[in-house]
Amino acid sequence: MSTAPPSSPSRDISRPASLGGILSVPGDKSISHRSLILNAIARGDALVQGLSGGDDVISTMRCLQAIGVNIKPAGAAGSYTVKGQGAQLTEPSDILDAGNSGTSMRLLSGILASQPFISVITGDGSLRSRPMQRIVDPLKQMGAQIMGRQNDSFAPLVVRGGGLKGIEYDLPMASAQVKSAIMLAGLSATGDTVIHQPALSRDHTERMITAMGGKVEENGLDLVIHPANLNAVDITVPGDISSAAFWIVAGLCHPNARILVRGVGLNPSRTGIMDVFQEMGAGDSLQLLDRRTEGGEPVADILVTSTELHGVEIGGDLIPRLLDEVPVLAVAACFATGDTVIRDAAELRVKESDRIATTVSELTLLGASIEATGDGMVIHGKGSGPDVLNGADCESHNDHRLAMAMAVAGLLAEGETTVHGAADASVSYPDFWQDLELLLQDVR
Ligand code: S3P
Repeated sequence: MSTAPPSSPSRDISRPASLGGILSVPGDKSISHRSLILNAIARGDALVQGLSGGDDVISTMRCLQAIGVNIKPAGAAGSYTVKGQGAQLTEPSDILDAGNSGTSMRLLSGILASQPFISVITGDGSLRSRPMQRIVDPLKQMGAQIMGRQNDSFAPLVVRGGGLKGIEYDLPMASAQVKSAIMLAGLSATGDTVIHQPALSRDHTERMITAMGGKVEENGLDLVIHPANLNAVDITVPGDISSAAFWIVAGLCHPNARILVRGVGLNPSRTGIMDVFQEMGAGDSLQLLDRRTEGGEPVADILVTSTELHGVEIGGDLIPRLLDEVPVLAVAACFATGDTVIRDAAELRVKESDRIATTVSELTLLGASIEATGDGMVIHGKGSGPDVLNGADCESHNDHRLAMAMAVAGLLAEGETTVHGAADASVSYPDFWQDLELLLQDVR
């Protein structure tokens, strides 16, 4: 949700004659958080490679270090050793800071709920305005004591954990963060924990718990988590499809582009954006090369070339599979022929900013024909002509994905675009602006 602090410095972007190159995106943010958290509560040491260097993952790392977990760089960039503590962590001597990261706060709360000590976890202005009752309610039902502002709805959260029991829980929204918080607490509860999901959300926690010797039974949308002691495992984190999505849109929509993104994770609970681009007519302009499995996750290189897209209607179970990609999908929809309608995406309103409002307001500034609806947006695409968007001053709203989506809009728009709050990209993609520069040099 939007915050008051002033924006970080701005960047000017204009459309290059061509766009090309080969790059790697940061390690998947969701898998990075989980590789640290799950190894922290496992027995034994683990080597994590390809960890995201984004601010959010660093927040998780610092919080874990503050509760007694030894995490140290292990040579190569993105390589860390994690010394598993087993079930017993240490009471932090100070407030834990999750920064801008909803994943850090929600997943770590699931861990803190199992610990017989007091901890306080807070975050920046954006995170303190995001809903926490969704994790507080189930964790309290499991037996943890948790308090927060406004009737336990918002951080800072005060947690006194321990003595948890398994529950049966109907997840009110398809949230992987909420699901994971309950699963993590369930690992150290007495008895099984049953979660009924309304739709599938990313399943990295389920996969990693299983790889570490825990037991998660999956029956359709129902999960049963058995209490378990986990064993540390080495993890190689694949590239983040949510970061790759920016270059996919730039490549598909720019008239003269060829971009190869190496080593992107293609877990089916994350590839909704690929399915949508196929439905929009991307065809061979979006190719998966060298498909392989790394660290239990499907991975491929993605080759993107220029094409023409047409509008689509999306909603339902597809939405959790591409939720973080909606701002940049809206940019692509501006360049498609015909309308794109996005429904069932009200969760976007409680992300780092209200992404329905901010995507619509910023693209409107660039001349897009776009309207917000209660649970999504309608984009009236103008096809692939030259004047689809016109450069303007726009704002990140302290939201990393908005900053990067607007940078991509700037690569495609006529004239100059200025993105205020450009440095917000570092929350998930610290080298975003360097990678953009690389593509401008078109080293194909
Ligand atoms: C995440 C889950 C998603 C996503 C977020 C990362 C995760 O949130 O938007 O960026 O790592 O579990 P919700 O599943 O809570 O909507």
